[in-house]
Parts: sequence; structure tokens; C-alpha cells
Amino acid sequence: MGMQGMVEHFIRLSPRNILLVALTLLAAYHLWLLMQKWLNTGNLPGPFPWPIIGNAPQLGSTPHLFFTRMAQKYGNIFQIKLGSRTVVVLNGDTIKEALVKKGVDFAGRPDFTSFKFVSNGKSMAFGDYNKWWRVHRRVAHSTVRAFSAGKIETKKAFENHAISEIEELLRVFLKKTAEEGYFVPHQYLVISTANIMSAVCFGGRYTYDDKEFQQVVGRNDKFTRTVGAGSMVDVMPWLQYFPNPIKTLFEQFRELNSEFHDFIMGKVIEHRKTIEPGIIRDMTDACIQALDKGISGSVGVELGKDYVSPTISDIFGASQDTLSTSLQWITLILMRYPEIQKRLQDEVAQVVHRTQLPTIEDQARLPYVMAFIYENTVVFVNQWSSNHDPDKWTQPEVFDPLRFLDKNGALDKDRTSSVLIFSVGKRRCIGEDLSRMHLFLFTAAMVHQCEFKPDPSCPLTMDCDYGLSLKPRLYRMAVSLRDNLDLLNSVGLPQADQPAENN
Ligand code: HEM
Repeated sequence: MGMQGMVEHFIRLSPRNILLVALTLLAAYHLWLLMQKWLNTGNLPGPFPWPIIGNAPQLGSTPHLFFTRMAQKYGNIFQIKLGSRTVVVLNGDTIKEALVKKGVDFAGRPDFTSFKFVSNGKSMAFGDYNKWWRVHRRVAHSTVRAFSAGKIETKKAFENHAISEIEELLRVFLKKTAEEGYFVPHQYLVISTANIMSAVCFGGRYTYDDKEFQQVVGRNDKFTRTVGAGSMVDVMPWLQYFPNPIKTLFEQFRELNSEFHDFIMGKVIEHRKTIEPGIIRDMTDACIQALDKGISGSVGVELGKDYVSPTISDIFGASQDTLSTSLQWITLILMRYPEIQKRLQDEVAQVVHRTQLPTIEDQARLPYVMAFIYENTVVFVNQWSSNHDPDKWTQPEVFDPLRFLDKNGALDKDRTSSVLIFSVGKRRCIGEDLSRMHLFLFTAAMVHQCEFKPDPSCPLTMDCDYGLSLKPRLYRMAVSLRDNLDLLNSVGLPQADQPAENN
């Protein structure tokens, strides 16, 4: 039938049939629009998303590698679908470009259901970018600075906490080696990190076997696993309306948040009982004194008392997984590359006498230690692609701290500023200076004092598990002293206590 025939045929149709054809065409048009939207939101290329689940199953256990493969196929900016959400994935240099040049556009947070349960929706780290967030970030940042890199005295106070705790950790390592030969260090690295942060946040530390503290620390671990794996409920909200394993996991996540909230609240309440005007013992005191009188931002924006606990939760919470994961990588790498461990030991031996422990001031004279840290602390998934970009780094897959040293052996500032560790832009990490101090003191003191050896019966692997950060698999190690315990015994560790009670 030619065109004219089709028109004649159409004219002969009854009004009811014409209506039916029109409705069918309309429905087809809508379906087509829907498919276009589904396949190509924002016109970015990307892999084909399955209905309902999107690309979620393709991410697998190593999403950063999936993203890298997709970037090779679709370019550095592409999109995927997670459930019903369209997610734009930035890779390589586009991360910095977006976060710096379009800082405000990329400073927001998605309105994920799970985020509403973090600090009862008052978290700064999980909160969306707005006028309140700006004031909140200012308060949190100045609190961290006041207890870390703010002034020389605050640096020293932090150094004392860190060094005492590193020494205690070393003692635990030696004890475990004596008892078990080779042992799994992960939980001790987690507790040691939590203790340093507990000292600066709440004014005290815990013993390694303290049950309450082990619970707090264990909860943190579970938290990052649930939130980091991108709670399925966030992208498929309908999963919470009928019984299924994801719903159970999500309920556990809510409970963890409420327990963590109670723990921090308890500390704040204890502090309020003993706080004295003008005396700031720790970060909790600093937050109480700042927020109780109210902190204003732009017109009509004021944060008060009820932001003390969320601010401390953000600081304490955000420091745990990040720092302890970095320490786990550091010890793993020391053992995997014994020649690097030896070179670190030699550099520290030239600068720090055997009768002293390394201090923050030694940092400038230990460029190889710093280069080792830059090469190491690459833990965040979205930053992985930038730090493994072959256009930017020679042999990015090779572990080589020397890439951060210039030809005179000094730390190359251009190179170190190119590596993405603490992110950039509006959401850049507020714990960067504190973390650098911690990682430096840990690495320098450990290589100064001891030697790490892997368990020959379980080979070391660089395989990792995916959470908020990439975590090394469990490994076993033995630790031996390079000379004796005299130096460690001469430095006192503050008594373990229940922090708030002791204030
Ligand atoms: C090696 C250790 C650490 C690494 C690698 C790290 C990395 C990061 C990264 C990449 C971000 C940006 C996340 C985003 O894109 O939204 C971030 C944010 C944040 N970090 Fe860290 N961090 C570390 C340690 C710390 C410590 C010790 C603290 C607290 C003292 C801290 C507090 C925060 C907070 C509160 C945020 C949220 C900032 C905001 O949303 O504006 N971090 N961190």
C-alpha cells in the first residue's frame, strides 16, 4: 500500500479506531522518550544499564577497575545507573578539573536515605552543600586545626599522643610476635588509630582489651562497609518495604548509627559536667565552647548546642577507617618491598640518633619517608584512576616512592601536589595535616625501632576489598626490635582510662 492508500485507509477508520491508533502512538512516543532518558541521561556515554538494577552487578568487588575499563571505552567522563539513579563517574584529570573549577557544582551530596541516619541528619560530612554546611565545616575544620597543625604547641601535643600510642602498639606487636610467631596486625592498627583520635577528641585512651572501645571500633568498621559499598537501599529505595537481606543490612546500619550517636552523646554529656570556662582540654571541649554560644554564618544561619555531637562524630568517625587503612597498607608494603624498608631505615638512621625517637621536626629531613607516604596513601576509590593515570605517572602500577623525589633527593612539591589523596575543592579533607603527621610519625618511628617480616606460609598480596577506601586483605607478620626496649621504656604512656570520666 502506497502513502496515498494508507491515508485513504486511515480516513475510512471509525472514530473509535482513530482514537486507539492515536493512543498507541502516544504511548509509543512516551516509551521512546523514557528509553532515551534511561539510556542516555545528560547525553553522556556509558555501559548499557539493565532495567531496575542498572549497572550495579557490573561493579563487582573492584569498582575502581570496572571504572577504569569503562573510562578506556567511553572516555574519562561517563555515566552508569545504580538502580534508579544516574551516576556520573569522573576519572583521571577530570576529577581535579571538576572539583576545583566547578567546585560548587560538585560540592553537594546525594539525598541518600542512609545519610539521613548519620548523626540524625546533622552530619557535615554527609550533609548537602548549603549555608549551614559552610558554617558547620568552618567549625569542624578549626577544631581539628586547633588540635593538630594549628600552632607549634598543638603540633607537639598531637605528637605526644601519637608517639605514646605508637610505642604501645609496638609493644603489642612484640608481645604478639613472642606469643604467636606471626600474627594479624589489622585490629591493633585500628585500635591504635582510634586511641590517638580518642585522646584528641575526648582527652583519654583505652586499653587494647577494653570491651566498650572494641565495640566502638568494630562498629566503625561495619559502618564503612555498609556505607562504602553504597547501601543498595540508597539506589533502590523500594528494597526497604519487604523482608529481604538488604533490608536486614540496612536496619543494622541504622542501629550502628544510633549506637555511635549514643556513644558520642555520652562523651559530650560527661564533658559538660566538668567543663570550665576558658579551659579547653580536647576537641569536645572546643566544640562545646564554640557552639554553645552559637556560631553564625550568613543572615539567618546559626549553629548551636545540638551540633556539638554531630561535629565530634564527623571528626572521630572520618578519621578511623581512613587512617587505619593507610597504616595497614604501610606495614604491608614495608614487608612486600624489603629493599624499601631497608632504605627507609637507613634514611631515618642518618637523621635520628638511636637514643631518640623521630619527631615532627625531622619531617623536612626525611624526604624518602615522605615520598613513601605519598606513594602509599592512595586509598579512595574515585581517586585511584587519577593516581594510576599512565599519561601522568611513569609505570603507575609499580610501587616507587622515588617518583616523588627530585634529582637532588628532595621532595618534589609539584609531584606531591599532583597525587590525589585528600581530594580537592570544597569537600577536601579537613584531617589532611593531622593525617600526614600521624602517618609520618608511625612510619618513621616503626622503621627506626623495628623490622617487619611477612609470614612465609601466607604470601602477601596487593588484593583489596572495597569499602569507602580500598582495604588490604588480612595478612600475617612478625615484628622484631632493631636493638632494645630502653628507648621505648623511657617514654611514658598516659594511663589508659575512660576518657570523659577522667576529665
Ligand atoms: C589517610 C587519612 C585520610 C584520608 C586518605 C582522607 C581522605 C578524605 C577524602 C578523599 C575526603 C573527601 C571525600 C569526598 O569526596 O567527599 C575526605 C573528607 C573528610 N575527611 Fe578525610 N581523610 C583522612 C583522614 C581524616 C581525618 C584524620 C579526619 C579528622 C580529623 C578526616 C575528616 C574528614 C571530614 C570531616 C571529611 C568531610 C569533609 C566535607 O564533607 O566537607 N579525614 N577525607
